[in-house]
Parts: sequence; C-alpha cells; structure tokens
Amino acid sequence: MRLLSGIKPSGDLHIGNYFGSIKQWVDLLNSSSDTQAIFFIADLHAITVYQDPKKLKEKTYEIAAVYFAAGLDYKKHIVFVQSDNPDHPYLNWLLTTVTPYGWLTRMTQFKDKRQKLKNYGEVIGAGLFNYPVLMAADILLYDADSVPVGEDQVQHVELTRDIAKRFNKLYGETFKIPEYTVNRTVARIKDLQYPTKKMSKSDDNPLGCVYLLDSIDDIRLKFKRAVTDSEKSIRYDVKNKPGISNLLAILSASTGKKIEDLEKEYAGKTYAQFKEDVAEAVIAVIKPLQQRVKEYLSDRSELERLFKLGVEKAREISTPKLNEALSKMGFYKYAKK
Ligand code: TYM
Repeated sequence: MRLLSGIKPSGDLHIGNYFGSIKQWVDLLNSSSDTQAIFFIADLHAITVYQDPKKLKEKTYEIAAVYFAAGLDYKKHIVFVQSDNPDHPYLNWLLTTVTPYGWLTRMTQFKDKRQKLKNYGEVIGAGLFNYPVLMAADILLYDADSVPVGEDQVQHVELTRDIAKRFNKLYGETFKIPEYTVNRTVARIKDLQYPTKKMSKSDDNPLGCVYLLDSIDDIRLKFKRAVTDSEKSIRYDVKNKPGISNLLAILSASTGKKIEDLEKEYAGKTYAQFKEDVAEAVIAVIKPLQQRVKEYLSDRSELERLFKLGVEKAREISTPKLNEALSKMGFYKYAKK
C-alpha cells in the first residue's frame, strides 16, 4: 500500500492543513506497518499564484519541519521537495497533451481562484489552469494506491484518475488508478469568522485562520472571537449552526473524541466555556508540535540532507515510470526497438 500527498509552501500552514491532511497521514501510517508514504513539498504548485521568492524558500523549510515534527519518519517514508525532482514537470507536459481542455475548465478550485484574482485585479496565469495536470503527474509517477487529502482536492484526484485512464487507453496500460481518502469531519475545517468558507492559507482575515505557528495568545484570542450563533445549544448541525459545528469538528480532531460524545459532554455548557476548551485542546496539540518544528528549523543543513536522501529514493520510483510513459508514447530513445 502506497500513500502519496503534498502541501504547497504558499502562505502559513493552518490547523485545516494539519488536521485535514498531515495528521490524517500520520494516523494512517501509525495504523498500518506495511504502508509506504510519499510526502512532498509542492513548491512547483505554489508558484501558480505569485510567491515572494524569499518567502517561498522559507516556507519550503517550514513545511518540511512540520512534516518531520508531526512524526513522518524519513527512514521509512519518502519526504522530498517537488522541485528537486524534474520527473514531475516532465510528466506534467506529457499528460497535458492527453488532458482535454474542457476537463480543466470544470475544476471548481480554478474557478474560485480565478474569481478571487479577478477581484484583486491580478493576472490569472496559465499555470493556474494547468495545475491539476501537474498534480496528476505527482500522483501517477509513483503508482500511488491512495491519496489522503482534504475535500477541496478530491476533484483533482478524480481528474487524475480520468487522465490516467485516458493515457492507458491511448498508449497502453501504464499508470495505476489511484483512490483518495478523505476524513469527512475534518476534510473542510472552516474559517472561524466565516464558518461557511474553508480555512485557507491565503486568508484575508487572519482572525478566522489559526496558523500552526501562531502564538498561544493569538490562538486563544481567535477562538474567543470565533463566530457562533444566537442559540445556546452545542450540537453538530452544519447547515443551521456552521460555527459551532466547525468548533466541534476541531475539538474532535484535537482530542480524538467522537462528535456525538462531545455533544453529550457539552450539553448545558456555555459557548464561552466551549470555545475556551476548544482553544486549549488545539493548544495541547500544537504547542509540542511548535517546539519540534523550531528544533528542525534551527538546522537547515540537516533539512537539506534529508531533502537529498528523499529525492534520491523518490527518483528510484519516478524515473522508471516516466521512462515507461516516454517509451509507450514512442520517443526514440525510450521506445522499444
Ligand atoms: P494545499 O497546499 O492547498 O493543502 C494541503 C492539504 O490540506 C488540505 N486542506 C484542508 N483540509 C481541511 N480543511 C481545510 N480548511 C483545508 N485547507 C487545505 C488540502 O485538501 C490538502 O490535502 N494541490 C494540493 C497539493 C498537491 C497534492 C499533490 C496533494 C500537489 N500535488 C498530489 C495530493 C497529491 C494543494 O494545493 O494542497
């Protein structure tokens, strides 16, 4: 069983990324000893929207530090930086040629981001449009069985499956068709100020987004100010009580308790007490993580050594797969005589 996933080093990681992806991965890995994980830092994806070059570099180290601090074991698993492996942009190009334009126009994330950029009067790069094909290349290069993601990435994994099927049909069986895994409760942690909108790295309102490296005081303040509703009952009802439901999902993700059990535990308690408890539960998870992240970040050359080890292991898998695709497509150096 091979799991594969990635995170873009754009903006600061938040608890949605942590509970919706990183923690999900680590839990999956801990529950099965024969699972191999491939996790990478998707820096080539990050630049589909302009990134300050200095920040891109910083965030790349930061995500790596979070991966390792969260418990990814570099000896057992493969952790690498996407731009260290040229097989990704290479296969991306090959797959672009088998991906119908119309499939990409249907991607909701592209439509949302395009709208946002338009509102800011910014340019929409062709890279943003092609981005899901690069994501397909990331996945298909490794014959991944499963891709653990948050809900916003599901459509891209579905597209990956379609691209793989189309390539296999045109050129013969080459790519494995991947599944995705989504933990529905935490797959879409919402913004604390606008609880119908997902928490996002590029958030306009920092009060709504709890960053993994926020100070403890800021975390307390953000939960204190979290938007709720005018009722008094603490129950999970996404439609009518999006704020409280989001806080219940966050509390469940941080404590490992089921939402139904939390509803019982908090029957009759005040919203103020509940919000305070959610903040403390999140802090209990994040504080030790922050300490470990700091330790990793204090030694960049050690991180770079791990990146090198990671990409060597990654290429042992990805390069033969890329060569197989080149061969199937008839490129003279790779095609069978
Ligand atoms: P990215 O960097 O936007 O997000 C990383 C992961 O975090 C999840 N996530 C959330 N989960 C719950 N609640 C939220 N509010 C929330 N926000 C983000 C995302 O679903 C994702 O799992 N295209 C990907 C990166 C990528 C990738 C891949 C993933 C590139 N290649 C191949 C899997 C496989 C992205 O932009 O994720």
